Amino acid sequence: MGSGILRIGVIILAAYLLGAIPFAQLVSRARGVDIFSVGSGNAGFTNVLRVLGGRTASIVLVGDILKGTLAAGIGDWLGNEWGMLLASAVAVLAHTLSIFVHFRGGKGVATGAGVLLYVSPLSFLVCGSTLALLAYTTGYMSLGSLAAAVLCPIMLVLTDQHPVVIAVFTCCALFVIWKHRSNIRRLRAGTENKIRPAKKR
Ligand code: G3P
Repeated sequence: MGSGILRIGVIILAAYLLGAIPFAQLVSRARGVDIFSVGSGNAGFTNVLRVLGGRTASIVLVGDILKGTLAAGIGDWLGNEWGMLLASAVAVLAHTLSIFVHFRGGKGVATGAGVLLYVSPLSFLVCGSTLALLAYTTGYMSLGSLAAAVLCPIMLVLTDQHPVVIAVFTCCALFVIWKHRSNIRRLRAGTENKIRPAKKR
C-alpha cells in the first residue's frame, strides 16, 4: 500500500518535472528573446518557428516530443500501463503549467505527440502527417493541431487500443483543443496568425 502510493508519487513527480522543461523558453532565452512576449506569446514550436526560424524551432520540437515519450516510458517502467497513462497525462499538463516559467507553457501538442509516439507509433505518424499537411497547405499550425487532436482518439480506436488508453488520450486531446480556444476564435474571425518562419536572427 505504502510503496504503491510512493510509486504513484514518483511517477507524478518525474512526469511533471520532465513535462515542465520549457524548451521553447530555454532556446529563445539563449537567443535573447522572451518567447512569452513575442508573436502569439505561446511557448511552443510554432511561435519559436515564427520568431526565431526553423533551426531553433526544430530543437524545441524534438525536445518537447522526446520529453513526452520519455515521461510515458518512465511511467510504464515504474507502473506498467496505468503508470504510463498517469505519466502521459501529467506530462502534457506540466508542459502547459510549468513550474519553471511561473506556471505558463505551451498548448500540449508536441508533448502530446510524444506520449502518443510511445503508445501508438502508427497513430503518431498519421496524426503528425495530418498536422504537417494542413499546416503546410493552409499556413495555420493551429488548424493542423486541432485536426490532429480530433484524429488522435479515432486512431487509437482504429489501432485497437485498450478502452482506458482511449479514454485518457481523449481527455488529453480535449485539453489540447481547449488550450486552443483563442486560436479557434481567431480562426473563426479570420485573424489567426500564420506560421511565417523568421528569415534569420
Ligand atoms: O501547438 C501550438 C499551435 O497549434 C498554435 O500555436 O503560436 O499559433 O498559438 P500559436
